[in-house]
Amino acid sequence: MANINIHEDVERVLVTEEELRAINERLGKQITEDFRDKKLLIIGILKGSIYFMTDLTRFIDLPLEIDFLGVSSYGGSTRTSGEVRIVKDLDKSIEGYDVLLIEDILDTGRTLDYVKRMLLNRKARSISICTLLDKPDRRAEDVDVKADYVGCDVPNEFVIGYGLDYDQKYRNLPYIGVIKQSAVKPEHRKDAE
Ligand code: IMP
Ligand code: MG
Repeated sequence: MANINIHEDVERVLVTEEELRAINERLGKQITEDFRDKKLLIIGILKGSIYFMTDLTRFIDLPLEIDFLGVSSYGGSTRTSGEVRIVKDLDKSIEGYDVLLIEDILDTGRTLDYVKRMLLNRKARSISICTLLDKPDRRAEDVDVKADYVGCDVPNEFVIGYGLDYDQKYRNLPYIGVIKQSAVKPEHRKDAE
């Protein structure tokens, strides 16, 4: 089915609703295989991962628990500064759990690098990373983070929808799209780099 209502601030659609569903099904089946006989705890990184997490987990045919971690990176809306602050911590101890972190997009990798190290200190049995989108070209040189599960790679452009925001907006778009430069504040435009 074609996307008939593309939001006026979207330049073009990168991942359609149908493609998102196929990604969730593929990753869900893979995770089901890989986490059999494990003590699976799925941790969504707020807020960007919630649409992905609720759809993905419906394709995971295993007993599991879910929790959320709220993180905020200092800095502007289209850049990540690298400093991470916990704004909502987990509800309980993760000791002994096989943790699967769910992220919307892996950009510089600094957020997940910080979160992974923090959770390892809390004695999780294992920590794996599942990201819907990956921008491999953007990874910071000093960051050594790899996703175990990736929905798809995207080019180095600012994307919105299906959880991803610009200035806290557009998360509810049912697809992933590239934002129009005209919808972005002058200081965040590509030519302002
Ligand atoms: P990282 O720490 O640089 O890997 O940044 C990851 C976070 O930056 C993501 O969880 C998003 O919140 C945000 N981010 C990075 N790129 C985009 C984008 O293209 N659209 C929306 N948010 C993004
Ligand atoms: Mg964000």
